[in-house]
Amino acid sequence: MHPMLNIAVKAARRAGDIINQASRNLDLLNVSRKSHSDFVSEVDGAAEEAIIRILRDSYPDHAILAEESGVRGNIENAEYLWIIDPLDGTTNFLHGFPQYSVSIALKHKGVLNKAVVYNPNNNELFTASRGGGAYLNNQRLRVSKRIRLEDCLIGTGIPFRDLTHVEAYLKIFKDVIPRVAGIRRPGSAALDLCYVAASRYDGFWEIGLAPWDMAAGCLMIQEAGGLVGDLEGNDTFLESGQIIAGNPKVFSQLLQIIRPHLSQALIENHRAAQKR
Ligand code: IPD
Ligand code: CA
Ligand code: CA
Repeated sequence: MHPMLNIAVKAARRAGDIINQASRNLDLLNVSRKSHSDFVSEVDGAAEEAIIRILRDSYPDHAILAEESGVRGNIENAEYLWIIDPLDGTTNFLHGFPQYSVSIALKHKGVLNKAVVYNPNNNELFTASRGGGAYLNNQRLRVSKRIRLEDCLIGTGIPFRDLTHVEAYLKIFKDVIPRVAGIRRPGSAALDLCYVAASRYDGFWEIGLAPWDMAAGCLMIQEAGGLVGDLEGNDTFLESGQIIAGNPKVFSQLLQIIRPHLSQALIENHRAAQKR
């Protein structure tokens, strides 16, 4: 394994230990609210600190974008940039609902290059390196081969914090329901994307994500032979927070279903992302 991926795995496992330990005493946790339906616990902070400590010990000059503590270094021009979500699925975690993960990605010269997503509940470790494939534990991942939407299981995330795009989201949801075999919303976007890579889902869409929710999972999908784009199919998904993913056939079918439902607000959001 490449040394940088190895360090990221060590950091993700350390964060997983902290999360697992805290999950045994959920009642004792200090929880605060960042905004409407946006909770953060002391575990999010402790896991993030542990990850950053491990990364910085090996790579003190690398820049960091982390959900809880923000930016370290010049993230615009950094040669190496780590993108960290210490606990993806905090609401699940706080409810003892066992679907959450640690997500760590590395960009090199602006391009996603390494990815780790770790589920501390079942010890599933997803890793990817650009050009080197995606793996679940030691098994190589490939996106699904299903081509008929009616056979497909599709993942999604329901908007619950920023409610700007709820109407457009519901129109898309209503249009997808009758065309597919089923829709799932487990609550950790990083894991959802890994499930596309692992062919558990055939496709996925969500609106309103942050870069740390998506970065690692997106490289996982690309390295497993899948496609990722924003709701118009372009590659500005990390900037816009709108995402469609899937095996190549399902990706383009989802794109066609979603396109007619794009609201003016979604189109503007996408245009703004392209200018960034
Ligand atoms: C959330 C999860 C969830 C998605 C939300 C994210 P968090 O991350 O990924 O699946 O629907 O939009 O914010 O806040 O638990 O790290
Ligand atoms: Ca997240
Ligand atoms: Ca988080």
